[in-house]
Amino acid sequence: MTRHLLRDDDLSPAEQAEVLDLAVRVKADRWAARPLEGPQTVAVIFDKSSTRTRVSFAVGIADLGGSPLIISTANSQLGGKETPSDTARVLERMVAAIVWRTYAQSGLQEMAAGTTVPVVNALSDDFHPCQLLADLLTIREHKGDLAGLTVAFVGDGSDNMVHSYLLACTTAGMHVRIGFPAAYPPMPDVVEDARRIGEGTGGSVLLTQDPAEAVRGADVVVTDTWVSMGREDEKAVRVEALSPYQVTPALMAEAAEDALFLHCLPADRGYEVAPGVIDGPQSVIWDEAENRLHAQKALLIWLLERADGAAA
Ligand code: CP
Ligand code: NVA
Repeated sequence: MTRHLLRDDDLSPAEQAEVLDLAVRVKADRWAARPLEGPQTVAVIFDKSSTRTRVSFAVGIADLGGSPLIISTANSQLGGKETPSDTARVLERMVAAIVWRTYAQSGLQEMAAGTTVPVVNALSDDFHPCQLLADLLTIREHKGDLAGLTVAFVGDGSDNMVHSYLLACTTAGMHVRIGFPAAYPPMPDVVEDARRIGEGTGGSVLLTQDPAEAVRGADVVVTDTWVSMGREDEKAVRVEALSPYQVTPALMAEAAEDALFLHCLPADRGYEVAPGVIDGPQSVIWDEAENRLHAQKALLIWLLERADGAAA
């Protein structure tokens, strides 16, 4: 049956490891896999802005022998004029997969329920699972085995990256700590899902309002913008609540001596992270950005092998 990646726990622990192993191979031999030879087309739809996601999918689909069709919702019938499920029924007649950056998670669910081709969440208000595959690949490259490592996210606890960190890292058997102000907590059902996943993998979840407690001894420190797309009107109030949660050199010093710093980008230096951290020696943000390409190629290969009608 066709598989989709709508949220991080759509991949089981074994499947996540399989995709990451494949990403390592794809990165080592960039032109070897050509599942989209033809070329077959993949639709990549954007309701929100993007640099990395747009470029990494366009380049990755071309690397796989395919043709990327980049669609802006503003110039399409999606977004109020046509339902996600009707759109999906049309696209599946012509494309091999659908990649969609949107607002509501429910739109992605409707899109996936309405089609026989794989649907990939390229960021929603709730999750950013493609970014997490790239982040896990980056951590693995620098730290080896993921299981047992501790990752600390400090900042906006209601961020899509937090929800993806909770699910993807517990799936990988990691310990996830989130340091956030009480006004911006993660979604309780996602925290509960992450804790349940951790029970099976040896991972765990710690929520705290104390940034130093979150970071102490951590192997990886992560943050993200305080003002996610769609929340621009809340900037002033968010900056006030989140200022004590900036990742500074002093906070970074609480982490393990060889801790990595990650940020999905785009970054607001001087807000969620000090320039000395994001541009400092522990930062691996450029590897992280490049790994979007390799991780997403692996994901597409994996999904295309499992799509209805794929050769057994
Ligand atoms: N990290 C990320 O998804 O970046 P873009 O918004 O540029 O795609
Ligand atoms: N949390 C950010 C991530 C951007 C890649 C946003 O949703 O705007």
